[in-house]
Amino acid sequence: MCGIVGYIGKEQAAPILLEGLSRLEYRGYDSAGVAVFDAGTGSLAVRKAKGRLQVLSDQLHGGADLDSTVGVGHTRWATHGAPSDVNSHPQVSRSGRIAVVHNGIIENYAELKAFLTAQGVPFTSETDTEVVAQLIEYFYQGDLLAAVGRVLHRIQGAYALGILCADCPGQIVAVRKDSPLILGYGEGCNFIASDVTAILRHTRRVGYMEDGELAVLTREGIRCYNHLMQPIEKETVTVDWEIDAAEKGGYEHFMFKEIMEQPDALRRCLSPRIREGEIVFEDFSLDEEYIRSMRRIYIVACGSSYHVGMVGKYHLERLTRIPVEVALGSEFRYMAPIVDEHTLVIVISQSGETLDTMAALREARRLGGHILSIVNVVGSSIARESDQVLYTWAGPEIAVATTKAYTTQLALLSLLALWLARQLGTVPEEDCRAMLAAFQELPGKMEEVLSRRDDIQYFASQYFNHDSIFFIGRNLDYALGLEGSLKLKEISYIHSEAYASGELKHGTISLIEDGTLVVALSTYEVLFAKAMSNVVEVKARGASVLALATAPHREEMARTADSVMTIPEIHALLLPVLGVVPLQLFAYYVALMRGCDIDKPRNLAKSVTVE
Ligand code: G6P
Repeated sequence: MCGIVGYIGKEQAAPILLEGLSRLEYRGYDSAGVAVFDAGTGSLAVRKAKGRLQVLSDQLHGGADLDSTVGVGHTRWATHGAPSDVNSHPQVSRSGRIAVVHNGIIENYAELKAFLTAQGVPFTSETDTEVVAQLIEYFYQGDLLAAVGRVLHRIQGAYALGILCADCPGQIVAVRKDSPLILGYGEGCNFIASDVTAILRHTRRVGYMEDGELAVLTREGIRCYNHLMQPIEKETVTVDWEIDAAEKGGYEHFMFKEIMEQPDALRRCLSPRIREGEIVFEDFSLDEEYIRSMRRIYIVACGSSYHVGMVGKYHLERLTRIPVEVALGSEFRYMAPIVDEHTLVIVISQSGETLDTMAALREARRLGGHILSIVNVVGSSIARESDQVLYTWAGPEIAVATTKAYTTQLALLSLLALWLARQLGTVPEEDCRAMLAAFQELPGKMEEVLSRRDDIQYFASQYFNHDSIFFIGRNLDYALGLEGSLKLKEISYIHSEAYASGELKHGTISLIEDGTLVVALSTYEVLFAKAMSNVVEVKARGASVLALATAPHREEMARTADSVMTIPEIHALLLPVLGVVPLQLFAYYVALMRGCDIDKPRNLAKSVTVE
């Protein structure tokens, strides 16, 4: 997804912008650009290039070609207009004196473009963003902030904007609505960024812009305004993420680093919340009366976070006996959801910025639901708009394919299910204690799984050249298969699908032929016998079977399956958290052997802030 960085200070801007943009590469993009104020000519210098940031950086000799101390930069992920040099940001006005970088979508851009065209304004790109630059110039009469204010009354949609004007070389104007933008406070310099990673190297003091707010950055400070243009005080917070934590730390890929970080991430997420046999949610509370009045739970999310919700449904219904619906963020609004004040809506999002999830959240709130979100990025939009937030504390996740965010979300949702069950008294205390003990064993058992990663690498070497792979499983193993299949296809580009094993006979089995790879998930003890019979069925049709089972079932499974990956035994509540790790590793090694761009898979973005 698009990334923004802006700098105003005393040092050379272009190298700082390029370095900041490189920290945002993980978000996914197809072109990059910078605009700086060139004091020599008194004009804006704009440089853009389709493709990797390196292409732009090479063209600018690492930024040395541009002599300036103020500028904005952007990585673009195409929405309106194909990836190209001309459609890249910054977009400039007809005179070239105003430059804009933009994340989000201007929904009424066609109407505005028609209006401006009728006034004789020529357009050069196909982007919605150019409309903003042209419109600012149209309204500009010597006061940039006033012109931006007028534009905000005309544009609809989602936007984070960074604006430069050649007439105001000592300023950057920033605006935010429905698309994240943060302010960075330095010594004699200030920053804007769509993500804190872009500026961590320079400052840890940040302020989060709220919807409708504007900011004017100078070298000396940052002035903030609300949507009525009244000055406001912005609270700042100190970000304590280590820079190293946002970088690869010696591993070849962020994805692998993040897979290996999972035991620690789980410890960070769980240990403060389990104390002396009790679950302690200091960051959150629901009163007992409300819990008892709950009639329904909705879980709303996209992508892997949705798969977490699929597992969560099984756990929550089993433990609390409250009906649970899992909905995709993009579908929720259109399905006439049955939400009222007795509905708990659990919103799951790593980034806290996924637009479809956010839109679902707003709809659920409008209908009267109580919103509890499970989010990784502190201060993100979803976190801020929720009634309550449980943070996963997984640390920054850079690889597009999520791993540690998924496992921490899943562990936290499982802990929440157990907490609710305890409040409701729906599970015998003895069982609750067994489950709590399992949470404490989880990080250690995950380390055990990771220590045997060479086995998974070997299996990957056996199967990496398959063109089509099926994941099958029942109940918890089915939900696990959805995530295993997604992981594999997103980074290795192998066609892959996940099926509930019981559905095989209703169609899928016709696709099984000699040599088709089936990944048979059979970690759920209760359904092991049924999983075995499905393995026999696909074997009889010529499939190669790579199975996943708990250690005690290894031998039995090995009698039928071609290869068996194992995880240690653990309470069923946490099986999917352990079970996903071999699937993450399998996807990783397969993608590695196929030479794929693992951290930045084609066409995908880390944070999807468009519908
Ligand atoms: C993108 C990412 C996925 C993620 C999904 C939802 O598609 O590539 O890894 O699961 O968005 O993101 P969220 O940040 O809301 O969990």
